[in-house]
Amino acid sequence: MMNVNEACEAFKKLVEEQLARVAAMDTTKTDFATKKTVTIGVIDGDGIGPIITTAAARVLEKLLADEVAAGSIVIKQIQGLTIENRMACGKAIPDDVLAEIKSCDVLLKGPTTTPHGGTMESANVAMRRELDLYANCRPVCIPEKNIDWMFYRENTEGEYVLGSRGVELPGMAVDFKVTTDAGTRRIVRAAFEYAKNNGKTHLSVVTKANIMKKTDGKFTAIAHEIAKDYPGITVEDYYIDIMTANLLKDPLRQQFQVIVLPNLYGDIITDEAAQIQGGVGTAGSANIGDKYAMFEAIHGSAPRMIERGMGHYANPASIIKAAALLLRHICRPEAAAKLEDAMANCPAVITGNESGATCEEYANALIEML
Ligand code: IPM
Ligand code: MG
Repeated sequence: MMNVNEACEAFKKLVEEQLARVAAMDTTKTDFATKKTVTIGVIDGDGIGPIITTAAARVLEKLLADEVAAGSIVIKQIQGLTIENRMACGKAIPDDVLAEIKSCDVLLKGPTTTPHGGTMESANVAMRRELDLYANCRPVCIPEKNIDWMFYRENTEGEYVLGSRGVELPGMAVDFKVTTDAGTRRIVRAAFEYAKNNGKTHLSVVTKANIMKKTDGKFTAIAHEIAKDYPGITVEDYYIDIMTANLLKDPLRQQFQVIVLPNLYGDIITDEAAQIQGGVGTAGSANIGDKYAMFEAIHGSAPRMIERGMGHYANPASIIKAAALLLRHICRPEAAAKLEDAMANCPAVITGNESGATCEEYANALIEML
């Protein structure tokens, strides 16, 4: 509990830290097309994480076997990012684990558990910050409904950057939301570049700028400023509340192509979008920075599935889709296409229980097709 003066002091420190973060942003890009050795780190995570991540890692090992043998790809397992170890170390990412992570170029990560309340930060949020993974790209594609959306969620700022650093005064709690020019420019530009490079002609900017006037107001203004560099792409603003409705509304929703939005809105709406596609188990997620990138399922660690003894029926589709996104990111598009094709035609069906395949059976069937 703080008093008013302590809260003001804490706020001052946070503002200074945030200014320092922006000043230290490094924009040097890793060029995977020319990089001689690409190191892929595999992190199991908690709950169903080890089960689904093992399936996805086996798929990658199969697809990249020749390159692993030739030494142009290294796949390494990273231990220790478990809730038990994180609680024991009192750190969202223990130092030795972070050093291992930073020795890789890209990561495939299973879901990690975040304790409610307390001060332990989410490992996900910490990793996105430590590796500066500012673009969270989440594709949702339903060909039979004529839906092809790509969400560009800002991934390092907004409500998340100080989410574990709010202040509590007697009878009151305050959290902070941070939006910077540099942070907004890079996510908006990434979304426009994706649109331009993939023949997209429409970009939606989603905020709540009528209420969050400073932060979301800035986000919208910067998006329109950057739009001037992309004359072939039309830009439309939506508020997040009506956008959640619009994702359910035909034919309007078929017009959406690339959607760029601040962190928390992106978190919420991409679960909705994934559900429209068939469930949060069906969507992959790419966390991209200039140097590193991390690929993961968009769902959590499903502790209830483990408690019920049903973990082996977990659906690995989300993390395997993430593995396909990883392959594209490291400039292995043929391997990615092969995987996506096999997934679309895999005879094994996952239902989450005895009526369908286990995670391992699904992986076996998929690997057979590669
Ligand atoms: C996601 C998840 C994470 C988030 C959690 C696990 C911290 O919901 O990747 O969407 O809120 O970003
Ligand atoms: Mg989420």
